[in-house]
Amino acid sequence: MMPSSSSYPKTPPPWLCELPKKDPWSRPFAESLLTHLDLQEGLAVLDVNCGDGIPAFHLAHKVGAAGQVLAIDVSEAQLMRARAVQGPYFPWLDFRREDVKHLPENLGPFDRITGNLSFMFFRPDRETVLHQLVTFLKPDGQLVLTFPSLGTFDSLWQWVDQEMLARGYTAERERLAEYIAERPSAEDARTWLKSGGLERINLAEYPLEVETGAGQEFLHHPLLRGGFLDDVYECFTDQELAESFMQDIAAETSSFVPLIAQRCVMSGWASSLP
Ligand SMILES: C[S@@+](CC[C@H](N)C(=O)[O-])C[C@H]1O[C@@H](n2cnc3c(N)ncnc32)[C@H](O)[C@@H]1O
Repeated sequence: MMPSSSSYPKTPPPWLCELPKKDPWSRPFAESLLTHLDLQEGLAVLDVNCGDGIPAFHLAHKVGAAGQVLAIDVSEAQLMRARAVQGPYFPWLDFRREDVKHLPENLGPFDRITGNLSFMFFRPDRETVLHQLVTFLKPDGQLVLTFPSLGTFDSLWQWVDQEMLARGYTAERERLAEYIAERPSAEDARTWLKSGGLERINLAEYPLEVETGAGQEFLHHPLLRGGFLDDVYECFTDQELAESFMQDIAAETSSFVPLIAQRCVMSGWASSLP
C-alpha cells in the first residue's frame, strides 16, 4: 500500500536548515564547531546543551531522514522553545530533557557528539563529565564541543583587577582570581580529551570581538552580563559597593575595548576498535 502524503516528512523552510543569521554569540561558535565536524547523511548525532537548537536544526538538516539527532538540555523552557520552532519538521530530531552530567546509560551509541557553548557547563568536574560523554561514542565516532576558553575578555579582567588593587579590595580581588582560574583552557581540554582515550585530537581557538558601548549598555549587555559580569558582582559581599564599582568600570570601557572572546573548538575521535 502507498503511504499517505501526511506520512512523508514535511520540507523544512530554508531558515530552519541554516544557523540563525542574527546571533552574534551562538552563531560564530557554531560556525567554528561545524568547521571541525565531519558530518554526513545518515549519522546518529547527540547534541548536548542544545538550548533552543543551535546547531541541532542544522545537524538534522545535514544528516537527513536516514539519520537521527538527539538534542538534550536541562532547561525545559529552552526545549519548549525548540519544539515550538521545530513544528512538524525533522521528525528524526528529538529534543529531550536530560542533564549532561547524568545521562542514562542506555543512550546511544552515536556517530557524533556535538555541543555548542557547552563545555564550560560541565563544571565542577569537567574531566569526568567529558569522559562519561565519550562512552556514548561509537568506535571511530567524533566528539566536537565549543566553549569560550581561558583568555576570553582578558583585557576586561586585567582592568577590573587593577581597579580592585588601586581601591584595596583584597578579598574581592582574590575571589576574582579564583573565578578566572576556574575557567577551562584549551590546554585543559586537550589533556582531558587525551585522558578520555580519544585520538586525532585537535584544539583550535578563533578570536571573536564582542562590541559594547559604555554605561548601561555595558552593564546590561546580554552576552556580558550573564556568566561574565555576574562573576564580578559575586566577588563582593556588599552588593551596593559592587554596583558602584561596576558603574565606574562601565564608564571606562574605552580602557579595555576591544573585548575579545576566544572561541575554542575541541575535537577528538574514538578508537576504531570497540
Ligand atoms: C550557552 S547555552 C548554548 C545553547 C546552544 N547550544 C547555542 O549554541 O545557542 C548553554 C545551554 O546549556 C544548558 N545547560 C546548562 N547546564 C546543563 C546541564 N547540566 N545539562 C544539560 N544542559 C545544560 C543551558 O540550559 C543552556 O541551554
